[in-house]
Amino acid sequence: MRFVDLIEKKKQKQPLTKEELHFFITGYVRGDIPDYQVSALLMAIYFNGMNAQETAWLTEEMLYSGDVIDLSAISGRKCDKHSTGGVGDKTSLSLAPMVAACGAKVAKMSGRGLGHTGGTLDKVESVNGFQVMRTQEQFISQVNDIGLALIGQTATLVPADKKLYALRDVTATVNSIPLIASSIMSKKLAAGSDTILLDVKFGEGAFMETSDKAKELAEAMIAIGSHFGKDVKALISNMNQPLGNAIGNALEVKEAIATLQGKGPEDFTQLCLEAGSIMLMQTGIARDEENARKQLLEVIQNGKALEKLVAMVAAQEGDVEQVLHPELLPQAKEILEVTSREEGYVKELHALELGTLAMKLGAGRMVKEDPVDPAVGIVLNKKDGDYVNKGDILAYVHINHPLPQHWLEDFYQTYVFTQEKVEKQKLIHDIIR
Ligand code: URA
Repeated sequence: MRFVDLIEKKKQKQPLTKEELHFFITGYVRGDIPDYQVSALLMAIYFNGMNAQETAWLTEEMLYSGDVIDLSAISGRKCDKHSTGGVGDKTSLSLAPMVAACGAKVAKMSGRGLGHTGGTLDKVESVNGFQVMRTQEQFISQVNDIGLALIGQTATLVPADKKLYALRDVTATVNSIPLIASSIMSKKLAAGSDTILLDVKFGEGAFMETSDKAKELAEAMIAIGSHFGKDVKALISNMNQPLGNAIGNALEVKEAIATLQGKGPEDFTQLCLEAGSIMLMQTGIARDEENARKQLLEVIQNGKALEKLVAMVAAQEGDVEQVLHPELLPQAKEILEVTSREEGYVKELHALELGTLAMKLGAGRMVKEDPVDPAVGIVLNKKDGDYVNKGDILAYVHINHPLPQHWLEDFYQTYVFTQEKVEKQKLIHDIIR
């Protein structure tokens, strides 16, 4: 087989066979096929797509390029969730303890942030001592003991995706539905859970710009799930503005804790309850949506959801006192109040730009090797639909260094005002079951 023939075929809009996809992935991981040829194939896929069968085969080849986690030693149905990423997205930190407190087994592998999107591992590491690297044995025994573990993806999981993602990042081929779907699903399938809930985001802070495109991506991932006999469902949610109010690692942990105490922002709480309901139904713990919600609200009210987070932090060597007393989490040296120079209703709040501004304060990384500052970030005080008077506080900016040049001007640009009353944007646009 010659790789150039695969490129030619995809260029001519023809589907690739299972054998050709096997040749591609094994050859690339072994280092036999050079980046320049794979780049050409990725660009051909970007323009000409892949059918459902090809996408499933590609996922299968990627999945078996490394270790596949065997969770069969954990009793009960194991559930997982995945968000396609966004700004202020601390969902795993609240949702996982909530569903675990209802009896679900959550064996969760998460990632780090890059660019304008944050990563769950960076957030949870704001808690002193918290260990994200665990052996498979520790991971499994923790989920058996307390129903919940949150760890980093092991280096041997889906090596094909590590190589391909790095290449896509520098060849403008990230935004392709079959490539995103196979990348995400190969990792989710390798992580071994029985059920998967996908939170597919759309909007300017997300990979997919429109809800229709997000739906298309969700359907591609659900089809891959069916190919592997997994129960995969998806939420389609809006990422045109940040989720919740906090953007930045320790600030998001605080907001996640508040949400577990029933004091979280309305939009974020709504997303956790909706996602949690689907997960409880997927695992058979709840018979219907109403019953699922009741169980989730109960574990918030009786403190069991927060207890689960505390148990996980204790099991992973983190400082439990910081969860019980969030004021002990890393604090920035200074908190600036940014007041409005305009008045009117907030019509838009640019998520992508706010994520980038938080990153520039030190909350995220520009390149993989950058350190993150757990304490810094932005806490929004006004969001879409709110009325703002001149001088009202728009946001609290937590800093450890003077603001970078133009930062404040750029921040003001993220708010768009109108004099007409505006409705709050709908957060959840669709649920694909
Ligand atoms: N997240 C992934 O893991 N892969 C993609 O391709 C896009 C988002």
